[in-house]
Amino acid sequence: MVPMVGSEYERAYRESLDDPGVFWGRAAEDVCWFRPWDRVLDDSRPPFFRWFAGGRLNTCYNALDRHVAQGYGSQAALVYDSPVTGTVASFSYAELLEKVARFAGGLGRLGVGRGDRVVIYMPMVPEAVVAMLACARIGAIHSVVFGGFAAHELATRIRDARPVAIISASCGIEVDRIIRYKPLLDRAIDLSPHKPEHCIILQRPQLEVPLLAGRDLDWDEVQEGPAADCVPVEATDPLYILYTSGTTGVPKGIVRDNGGHLVALTWSMRNLYGAGEGDVFWAASDIGWVVGHSYIVYGPLFHRCTSILYEGKSVGTPDPGAFWRVIEEHGVNVLFTAPTAFRAIRREDPEGAHIRRHRHDSFRALFLAGERCDPETLHWAEERLGVPVIDHWWQTETGWAIAGNPLGLERFPAKPGSCTLPMPGYDVRVFDDAGSELPRNRTGNIVIKLPLPPGCFPSLWQDDAGFVATYLAAYPGYYLTADAGSIDEDGYLWIMGRTDDIINVSGHRISTGAIEEVLASHPDVAECAVAGVTDAIKGEVPLGFVVLKAGAGHDPDAVVADLVRLVRERIGPIAVFKKAAVVRRLPKTRSGKILRGTMKKIADGTPCAVPATIDDPAVLDEIARALTGIGYPRHPGHR
Ligand code: COA
Ligand code: AMP
Repeated sequence: MVPMVGSEYERAYRESLDDPGVFWGRAAEDVCWFRPWDRVLDDSRPPFFRWFAGGRLNTCYNALDRHVAQGYGSQAALVYDSPVTGTVASFSYAELLEKVARFAGGLGRLGVGRGDRVVIYMPMVPEAVVAMLACARIGAIHSVVFGGFAAHELATRIRDARPVAIISASCGIEVDRIIRYKPLLDRAIDLSPHKPEHCIILQRPQLEVPLLAGRDLDWDEVQEGPAADCVPVEATDPLYILYTSGTTGVPKGIVRDNGGHLVALTWSMRNLYGAGEGDVFWAASDIGWVVGHSYIVYGPLFHRCTSILYEGKSVGTPDPGAFWRVIEEHGVNVLFTAPTAFRAIRREDPEGAHIRRHRHDSFRALFLAGERCDPETLHWAEERLGVPVIDHWWQTETGWAIAGNPLGLERFPAKPGSCTLPMPGYDVRVFDDAGSELPRNRTGNIVIKLPLPPGCFPSLWQDDAGFVATYLAAYPGYYLTADAGSIDEDGYLWIMGRTDDIINVSGHRISTGAIEEVLASHPDVAECAVAGVTDAIKGEVPLGFVVLKAGAGHDPDAVVADLVRLVRERIGPIAVFKKAAVVRRLPKTRSGKILRGTMKKIADGTPCAVPATIDDPAVLDEIARALTGIGYPRHPGHR
């Protein structure tokens, strides 16, 4: 693709594709290595590419020790703002380093070492960040599981990652509800064939839980004792595994390496986000998601920023002005969140009264990602805030933005609805199903030419074959993003949505296939389908369609209530599965394929033609009646 000619961005982008060794080698000079790399890009074993092969480093050293050694020990590294506990606490780089090194020492004494896996299942507390960095310090591989996932989801991750230890807390807090983590953890360990040797539990003042003798240890106990130093690891060694929804109920273990991740995230802080050292950066997400890994923890600390760790709902009750209060109180320079948050803010405060009540002169830019941002929300935010609002596109797999508006390098005119230009290293193309490249402005499958840039996943955890089959087999030599979209005449990228059965609920990635597996496990369900339907605030929510077994004689409402409870129990509340229509048959093609897209259109109230391939058009009327019975199509603005 040919973006703007003669610009700084153009030079960087071109060099990153034509001479990746020079471009990323130069970027790598901004971080600290224990041993330099032999090759910037090791392309000796395609399609498996490795960045900075031969180099040795430590991620935690670059996040903390380096800055303290350079005299910035007293600068705030982390500000913990927790309205749900009434706490605001700041940790300097020196303080955070001390905590991390001591906890790392404790992990070492428990026998956790380089290459061992450690699952972290924690709420948004500073100890979660300490746990991640402590793993990085000793070369252990962390796998953070989002606290909103239920026991079954945690169990599938424990089974796959086979952790030596699990670090958790007694509870999380959702507004005013205590979420008891310990029973979820115990149940997950029961369900998993792999059992960890140790569980380290942070006892929060809100809830003290009994510990299991011989297995459980108190957080405080573990961190008593000598600190641990940084262990040099290979640049290509895994730093973490982060599980993300696949097309089945089995999540995929996205692996992140140490070296490429460090270099790419450091580059992105200045060049994409326009952040300087010492700036205050707030990613209003959760450490359980990739955004939290990259931009609550690693990116800001690599770049010596102050990162905000916010525990609570940044929108709605109890404080509809929470975003603006935090920006004012902590002098936030750059904010990153999901569009869903701004849709919710806009609904509650259409005139922006809360925004006006707070000063935000420090505030320079808002970045949005995780789902498509509708142009109305983007305009609304831009007008009320008076700062650039930048929609940027990325995935758990890539770990940082594939496309965005590189504020620090050069700011391009925004086109609402577009994610602007590809970032260095991403050679983005649009292909049709047969594998031919499509011309400008034609929508198709978005692919990225290999190699992916540093920071992107080198493979799936212990599943090279799955990596190739899922991402590389469709178009050899290219990574399949599973997003559809187009590139316009200026080289801008337009992302339209997923091409697989993954939906984005409040910016969280949920597999409709995984929900279908849960519905199908109910004894009264003969057949089912789940489609993502449009929601004014959450973007999309899953909606179930179920056919009950003949003669079961059960009350359909009771079955639906059961299904809603089951999904909440097995996947978790964040699936936001609240409704299902009981129907007599599912619409199918003559070859038996369920027409989920058609059901979605009826639920959304989108006009649709009767598909030519449908086996029985009459079934669509029945579906429409069933949907009307449960409140579809919804009116715009209705939640
Ligand atoms: N532990 C337990 N439950 C959790 C949870 C956690 N860590 N996080 C969310 N949940 C629950 C919620 O309480 C809610 O439960 P409910 O059905 O009982 O109400 C359910 O999961 C759905 O959560 P969510 O979709 O987040 O909706 P919400 O109404 O609670 O919050 C927003 C809406 C907009 C405030 C919230 O989604 C948000 O701030 N999103 C933007 C940031 C973000 O998440 N970005 C991710 C990628 S950048
Ligand atoms: P996740 O892996 O959870 O970050 O989700 C990645 C998916 O979210 C992508 O494949 C897209 O479908 C969607 N996504 C992320 N950012 C954007 C964006 N800016 N615009 C449109 N879709 C996005």
